Amino acid sequence: MEIKKVAVVGCGAMGSGIVQVVLQSGYEVVAREVDQAFLEKGLEKVKASLEKLVKKEVLTEEVRDATLNRLTGTVSLDSLADCELIIEAVFEDLQTKIDLFKELDMVCRKDAVFASNTSSLSITQMAASISRKERFLGMHFFQPAPVMPLVEVVKTISTAPEILQKALDFVKSLGKVPILAKDQAGFIVNFLFTPFMLDAMRAVSNGVASIEDIDKGMKLGLNHPMGPLMLADYIGLDLIFNAGNVMFEEYRESRYAPPPVLRKMIMMGYLGLKTKRGFYDWSDPKNPKPINLDA
Ligand code: 3HC
Repeated sequence: MEIKKVAVVGCGAMGSGIVQVVLQSGYEVVAREVDQAFLEKGLEKVKASLEKLVKKEVLTEEVRDATLNRLTGTVSLDSLADCELIIEAVFEDLQTKIDLFKELDMVCRKDAVFASNTSSLSITQMAASISRKERFLGMHFFQPAPVMPLVEVVKTISTAPEILQKALDFVKSLGKVPILAKDQAGFIVNFLFTPFMLDAMRAVSNGVASIEDIDKGMKLGLNHPMGPLMLADYIGLDLIFNAGNVMFEEYRESRYAPPPVLRKMIMMGYLGLKTKRGFYDWSDPKNPKPINLDA
């Protein structure tokens, strides 16, 4: 089975980026959202991103049109029946993902490969809940997907070697670099990076240094593109909170436990860039300002 038509289920920040990457690599893409409003918002993001590339003269108008002609949007799962690969990028809730994959298992062609873009939830638990366990794996993209070159490919004890190879080849066909991880919470990157962000938060609340100086330290001292607190805002503090909890649950090591300051920010609805407030005030996204966390 050759992969020609790919479904991306969930067209939010991550999903729309994945749609763009897969489309631009020449595949037919079906983007699925739960309702028309979410779908239109997601497709609009893809179109706006391609439009920017036309303005920058990276794409011609003809290529943009041909690219968009390969894209269809749907709110129904039945429309994914003939896709050879399904990439799931819905919100990070294990039961939601399991329920979705159970439905997809009934609707999709029997030889289709299923991949979850989860950043920390158990690939094994998702695979175990459906019949095609050997055709299931993790395919974890990074934000923003059109820019970040890495994809973690995550295998379970049931993933068939030829399916794993198919996934690695697919990732390479997107112009991305795959790395292979076993199914353990956080895989490779978040396993190492989540405690780093949580430590930066602990450093702020312990008064080690200001938000700005912690971020400057990592940016200028280690040449990171963003400091850990700004990156946490960029990713979404709720995602980091949930990922930390999942990893703490699995490893029982305190470095994965979200610190109280993060819990309080979540309670207040400070989720980072998407709510315009996190460790920074993002009212002007081009000029984020550190907030005052003193109680
Ligand atoms: N979609 C498409 N292209 C985008 C984009 C987006 N959302 N955001 C930025 N870009 C492009 C810009 O158009 C620009 O392209 P150009 O060089 O051809 O002009 C290029 O990326 C650089 O963008 P900017 O000039 O606007 O800004 P920066 O140079 O500051 O780069 C950044 C922005 C790429 C986000 C950079 O700051 C960065 O790499 N930050 C770290 C990102 C990171 O670590 N991501 C991983 C997060 S962890 C994760 O995703 C795991 C998950 O499980 C939570």
